[in-house]
Amino acid sequence: MVTAAAKAAAEVDGKPATGNRALPRHVAIIMDGNGRWASARGLPRVAGHRAGVQAVRRTIETAASLGVEWLTLYAFSSENWRRPASEVMDLTGLLRHFLKSEIAELKAKGVRLYFIGDRARFEQDIQIDLGLAERETAHNTRLNLVLALSYGARAEIAAAAKAVAEAAKAGTLDPAAFDEAMFAGYLSTTGIPDPDLIIRTSGEQRLSNFLLWQAAYAELLFLDLMWPDFGPEQFEAALAEYARRERRFGARPG
Ligand code: FPP
Repeated sequence: MVTAAAKAAAEVDGKPATGNRALPRHVAIIMDGNGRWASARGLPRVAGHRAGVQAVRRTIETAASLGVEWLTLYAFSSENWRRPASEVMDLTGLLRHFLKSEIAELKAKGVRLYFIGDRARFEQDIQIDLGLAERETAHNTRLNLVLALSYGARAEIAAAAKAVAEAAKAGTLDPAAFDEAMFAGYLSTTGIPDPDLIIRTSGEQRLSNFLLWQAAYAELLFLDLMWPDFGPEQFEAALAEYARRERRFGARPG
């Protein structure tokens, strides 16, 4: 169902935006605040992460029904490995369960899955399920869902720079002809459009090593609510805010 807020987000000055410019093609989200959500309720942190998974489910459904083409979720950062072993186990356990329990449903809903990040750091069974999820959903076109797992932007950029240097050394790349678009081709997001809108929940206002190259022109939106409280209403309000910003920056004749 398309609500009034979503309709407003798809309009500029009350008229449909040309090519639906006001609707971001790619929304990326830093899902922060699970721990604080739990402690505010006297619950263990894992309860916050479980509630966070419910918010992930709602967000995927909302993105698909509103017509967002790409949704990237920062589910596990390369720095998250430094958390206490028990919390790392809780988070990887939730990921394992998510992959086992959701894939059939995502497949049925037309969602195509992609993963960016250092998947080799996860246990073997999770790595196998990540590959399976990509293959099983490869023909879907309704929503492209990118999960950033063990992801860090600096490591991604350094790996790309290393591959570029190796190609130059091997003589397969001409440094004189090298440009931004070619560099982007070495990143893990090659083929994925840059995010138009990056949302971070929890009130923190930073990117925390998320999509640093790709975020160059993204609109940033910092929300004062914890990730488990993010639902369709908040998503639609974020899209409406994005549409307002586009309207301010886009010079339209007449
Ligand atoms: C931040 O909350 C969130 C994370 C560390 C990861 C997000 C993970 C999920 C939403 C669940 C797993 C997702 C999938 C797809 C299975 P925080 O712990 O940093 O919260 P705090 O800053 O309040 O402590």
